Amino acid sequence: TLAGVPASGPLTGSALRDWQVLADAYVACADDRIVAVGPMAELDTARVGPDTQIVDAGGRVVMPGLVECHTHLVFGGNRAHEFQRKLQGESYLDILASGGGILSTVRATRAASDAELLANALHHLEGFRHYGVTTVEAKSGYGLDAETELRLVRVAQEAGRQQPAQVVPTFLGAHVPGPEYKGRPADYLQMLANDVLPHLNPAEVPFVDIFCEEGAFSVRESRQFLEQARALGFQLKIHAEQLHDLGGAAMAAELGAVSADHCDYLSQDDAARIAANGRTVVVLLPLVPLFLRQEVYAPGRRLIEAGVPVAISTDFNPGSCPSKNLWLALSVACLKMGLTPKEALAAATLNAAWALNLQAETGSLEPGKRADLLVLNVADYEEIPYWLGENPVQQVVISGKVQ
Ligand code: NIG
Ligand code: FE
Repeated sequence: TLAGVPASGPLTGSALRDWQVLADAYVACADDRIVAVGPMAELDTARVGPDTQIVDAGGRVVMPGLVECHTHLVFGGNRAHEFQRKLQGESYLDILASGGGILSTVRATRAASDAELLANALHHLEGFRHYGVTTVEAKSGYGLDAETELRLVRVAQEAGRQQPAQVVPTFLGAHVPGPEYKGRPADYLQMLANDVLPHLNPAEVPFVDIFCEEGAFSVRESRQFLEQARALGFQLKIHAEQLHDLGGAAMAAELGAVSADHCDYLSQDDAARIAANGRTVVVLLPLVPLFLRQEVYAPGRRLIEAGVPVAISTDFNPGSCPSKNLWLALSVACLKMGLTPKEALAAATLNAAWALNLQAETGSLEPGKRADLLVLNVADYEEIPYWLGENPVQQVVISGKVQ
C-alpha cells in the first residue's frame, strides 16, 4: 500500500520520495471516501460487517488512482497522415506553419457534431480508466472560434457526467490564433477575453491555459491574456518552453499559475524562479519529445534538485501524444528525465492533483479523500515503471465503487 503525506504545498525535493510505503496494509472506505489506512494488524475488525465489500489485494500494490493533469481530450479526426510527414523529417512547427498540425484538427473538430465529439471523448475516457486514471483534465483548443470553443467545454463537461472518472475542464481557446485571425494573435486573444471568457463560470471551468510559443502566442501576449483571465476569477496554466526558451513558464509562475507545462527548454535560472514561488507545478510530458522525435527532454532531475514541484502527464492529444498510457510516461520520465520510480509515482498522483488544485480531494491514500484507488498486478512499487509499456492495473476503484 502506498500512503500519502500531508503537505502544505506540492511535494518538492526529498519530500517527493519520502512518502510512506506500508507493507501488509488495509484501506477502509465508506461511501465515496477513504476513512482509514494502516497496517493490517491495526484494522478495526468491529467495523467490518456482512455488508462490507472486501477487495483482496494480497501480494499486490495498492495505490491512489492516477491523476492525469494535462490532456486535450475533445477533438475530431486524427493525425495519422502527419505521422508519415514527421518520419520524413518535417518538424512540428513546420507542419503547423503549412496549415496542418493543430489547424488540421481544428478543421476536423469544427466539422464534427456534438454527438461525435462526445462519443470520442467517452471512448478516450474509457481508455484512461483502463490505465487506472481516475481524474482527467480536459482542455478545449480545437475550435478556435467563440462558438466551437464553448461547445468543446460543454462536451468535456457532459463526458464527465456520463462516466465515473472526474473530468476537469480547462479553457485553452488560446491554443493558436484561429484561422480567421491569421497574423493577428492580439486581436484573437482580445476576442476570447471579450466574447468567450465572460460566458464561462470559474466554478465549473476552473482553469485558463495558453500556448506560449513561436507560431502561437508571445510571452507578452500570454501575460496580458492570463492577467485578464485571473481578473475574471480563473486559475492559470501555461504551455511553455516546449520548443524554445522564451520565458513563459517563469512569467506564469510570477502570476501564480497552478502549473507550467512541457518545460523541455526551461533554463536553470527560470527553474529557480519557479521554485521560489512554492506553488507552481511543472508538468513533465515525457511522451511528447519522444513522439515529436525531439532530443531535448525537460531536466526533471535538475528541476527536483532546484526545489521545483513536478508532476507527470501524457498530454494526450492527436498531434504530439496520441497515447493515454500514463504508465509509459512514468517509465520515460525515469529513463529520459532522471526521476526515480518513487518520485515518478508521487508526480503522477499527489503533485498532479496539486496541478489541478484537487490535492484535498484525490492523489493520495488519506482519510477524507475520495476513494480513488488501484490494485496493481505487481508485488512491489519498483516494478511499476520497470515493465515498460505494460498496464499493471488489475482493479480500479473510483469514488468508492469497484469498476
Ligand atoms: O500540448 N503544444 C501545443 N499543444 C499540444 C499539441 C496540440 C496538437 O498538436 O494538436 C501539446 O503538445
Ligand atoms: Fe498540451
